[in-house]
Amino acid sequence: MAESNPLREPLLDWYGTHARDLPWRRADATPWGVLVSEIMLQQTPVARVLPVWAQWLARWPAPRDLAAEPPGEAVRAWGRLGYPRRALNLHACARAITADHGGEVPADHDTLRALPGIGEYTAAAVASFAFGGRHAVLDTNVRRVLARAVRGEEYPPKATTAAERALATRLLPTVDASTWGVAVMELGALVCTARAPRCADCPIAALCRWRLAGRPPHDGPARKGQAYAGTDRQCRGRLLAVLRGSHDPVPKAALDAVWSDPVQRERALDGLVHDGLAEALTDGTYRLPLAVVSE
Ligand code: ADE
Repeated sequence: MAESNPLREPLLDWYGTHARDLPWRRADATPWGVLVSEIMLQQTPVARVLPVWAQWLARWPAPRDLAAEPPGEAVRAWGRLGYPRRALNLHACARAITADHGGEVPADHDTLRALPGIGEYTAAAVASFAFGGRHAVLDTNVRRVLARAVRGEEYPPKATTAAERALATRLLPTVDASTWGVAVMELGALVCTARAPRCADCPIAALCRWRLAGRPPHDGPARKGQAYAGTDRQCRGRLLAVLRGSHDPVPKAALDAVWSDPVQRERALDGLVHDGLAEALTDGTYRLPLAVVSE
């Protein structure tokens, strides 16, 4: 039995008037559309996800449409969303849904969790947002809101703890838990932001333990953003952009041209091949993968 939660009413009222109209939240969104959105949104901001999500769903409206394509087409359609292994995961997921679940995204959390590339967060998000299940959906925004409002701390721990999960589960309403979940997430995205929270606009400011305590700063080591320029990740992104731009295999020279440091470039290229994001052909050319690479 869920205990009464004083945050619930003000937060749901706020969500009713302030929520963004995002296509994966609309009544006509399919479970597949929700699943694709959750994978894309995990490491990429909403504004960049919107156009790619729309193109993806127009091209592959159901899992079996994507399953019929080689994995390289998923990598190509991923565009510049970053962390492109997510594209391969979605492709593997589409094939498993098609082969084992009659082409329908399963509604059950544990069945979702058993699909390739679906972790605890994605399983809970899809079971909740697509099917109305009662699950704690703990992304970074939700974790930050709960850390502040309930625990009185500026930031949550680095990795999700059992205590955070227990707290989030305790706060879940018995009715319409999925709206509560997305409302907390939206507050974290729009108001209770990481660096400059807008407490004056917050519907639960009067109840927030962190604000009531005078917004004490986080007392651990500084939280640094991820550098991108000059990293292997940037190098991999450049190489992959070349492969995405061509429907024919590309000569090695075309890859060499986009990154000057040869040591880093070779390491990045080996990494792409190893991860199944690129294929090295015997004539020395490269292309997006036609086949799935097993670990
Ligand atoms: N709506 C549902 N899930 C979301 C997410 N992960 N990010 C932003 N909006 C969402």
